[in-house]
Amino acid sequence: MRRTLTGKNILVTGGSKGIGLAMARELSRRGAKLALLARDPEALEAARAELEAAGGTAVVRACDVTDVEALGRAVSELALALGGLDGVIANSGYCHPGYFHAISPGDAGRQIDTNFKGVVYTLHHAIPELLKRGGGFIAITSSPAGNAGIFGFSVYGATKAALNNLAETLRYEYADKNISVHLLLPPDTQTPGYDQEVLLYPPETRSVLQGGKLFPPEQVAHRFVEAIERNRRQATIGFETHALLWMTRLAPRLWDHYTAWKIRSARRKETAQ
Ligand SMILES: NC(=O)c1ccc[n+]([C@@H]2O[C@H](COP(=O)([O-])OP(=O)(O)OC[C@H]3O[C@@H](n4cnc5c(N)ncnc54)[C@H](OP(=O)(O)O)[C@@H]3O)[C@@H](O)[C@H]2O)c1
Repeated sequence: MRRTLTGKNILVTGGSKGIGLAMARELSRRGAKLALLARDPEALEAARAELEAAGGTAVVRACDVTDVEALGRAVSELALALGGLDGVIANSGYCHPGYFHAISPGDAGRQIDTNFKGVVYTLHHAIPELLKRGGGFIAITSSPAGNAGIFGFSVYGATKAALNNLAETLRYEYADKNISVHLLLPPDTQTPGYDQEVLLYPPETRSVLQGGKLFPPEQVAHRFVEAIERNRRQATIGFETHALLWMTRLAPRLWDHYTAWKIRSARRKETAQ
């Protein structure tokens, strides 16, 4: 059954930029009221001003999702400002790619804290707000890297694999509380975060991911919001991502061979230079 998002109060973490901001715009066009949370107050204010200029309603709060206590206060304040929460999109996250041993324990820890603990903390604080309203939805922005081993994405992929499992489990735990759970798997999407991460790709990562389509955030956000409306358990977009998900599930050796071929070809090019 299709749910309406008109008039719903929705928290989007990482709603100031990239895919999160594109989802906020898409939800606002459908008449939802937004609570946006991210660290940079200026980007948040710009997002709020843009949504309100287009006739929407948005409240914003600067907070780091890794700070569990500050996050608790921020979620309560945002929920109060909107008059409750009907949905939460736990979307904050980033990728620090590299050879496993080139990623310092500090950089690995920051990814784990932001991508995994940040989502756990967000849901810890937001789910009671949904329960107060008799239910709602949870959407978690994961990544296809949580389903497949992608060269150079060791720690990042592991944080996203953890989110996949979290989503599956929460789906069962909250089924009788009228809370649906949706897993969002963005393909390569042109965002400020993507522009940063590609600068760090080892040659093998470039080679494995070469040829994949780069999507505009608007197209990805449209698919994701539609998936929430249509109560889909998982959403993605694009031939390459569907092929990757299919291959790693049904024919993992095929992905092994493809990856090995792409690594060889990257290393041949490196030695030829
Ligand atoms: N773009 C892609 O190709 C792609 C592919 C697969 C998955 N994803 C996933 O999609 C999500 C959004 O990515 P994106 O590409 O849109 O990234 P982005 O352009 O970098 O935007 C990330 C958003 O998260 C916020 N954020 C980051 N760290 C935070 C923290 N510690 N606390 C609170 N907010 C934080 C950022 O704002 P501040 O910096 O101001 O805090 C920003 O609003 C991420 O989870 C990412 O892993 C992206």
